Amino acid sequence: MSYTKRKDGRKFDEMRKIKAEVGVIKNANGSAKFQIGDTIAIAAVYGPRNLYPKFLQNPEEGKLRCNYNMLSFSVDERIRPGPSRRSKEIGLVTERALSPTVNLKEFPNAVVDVFVEIIQADAGTRCAGICAAAMALADAGIPMKDLVSAVSVGKVGDKLVVDLDKSEEDYEEGATDMPVAILPRSDEISLLQLDGEMEAKEIIKALEMAKKACLELNKIQKEAIRKKYKGEGK
Ligand code: CDP
Repeated sequence: MSYTKRKDGRKFDEMRKIKAEVGVIKNANGSAKFQIGDTIAIAAVYGPRNLYPKFLQNPEEGKLRCNYNMLSFSVDERIRPGPSRRSKEIGLVTERALSPTVNLKEFPNAVVDVFVEIIQADAGTRCAGICAAAMALADAGIPMKDLVSAVSVGKVGDKLVVDLDKSEEDYEEGATDMPVAILPRSDEISLLQLDGEMEAKEIIKALEMAKKACLELNKIQKEAIRKKYKGEGK
């Protein structure tokens, strides 16, 4: 059966409503909140600071370290607190999605810690976390060549869609989820995962949809950063 209408009335290439804010945690060197629909991520950046234990230090450049966590109350069914296989995987892909943009050459033996906390989840949390983390890194003043924008695209039933919510991920007749992160200025893809099945030509089309959505996201992220710093340095 054809997937004719999205539950929330969105067009197939339309993202959910987005809100972005920078500087939400005073104690952190940089922080941000990113909301897309009912998915909310908070990111906090600490560092550069000395990396311990010492054997982990790299005298050539600093290290980016990302931690992803979904809070127990972020979904209806309580999530067991503490690290899981899933949270470790997402921490790692977050790190890889952000690494190409940060330049830590000036900070030998140091670490920049990024903590992503998902306070409410309705699918697309790794992408929301990456968007928040990129903004938090910029807020912390970490040298970066670009922001990173991320969104999940995929296929629900027979339709290619942007920004799947949980009901779409769980669509009875099958859904494919493809989270994508992009450095908008260079068009570099720093995250591409695929959970499900799509034909090659569908993947290409879905990637185009992701790129277009990421450009929109990028504008919102930049606007949030500008909002905090507007008027400073005058
Ligand atoms: O969140 P993301 O799409 O990046 O990753 P996922 O592993 O595909 O999870 C999809 C969604 O399933 C999450 O966003 C949550 O809404 C939900 N989920 C859950 O309810 N309980 C979990 N332990 C993990 C995920």
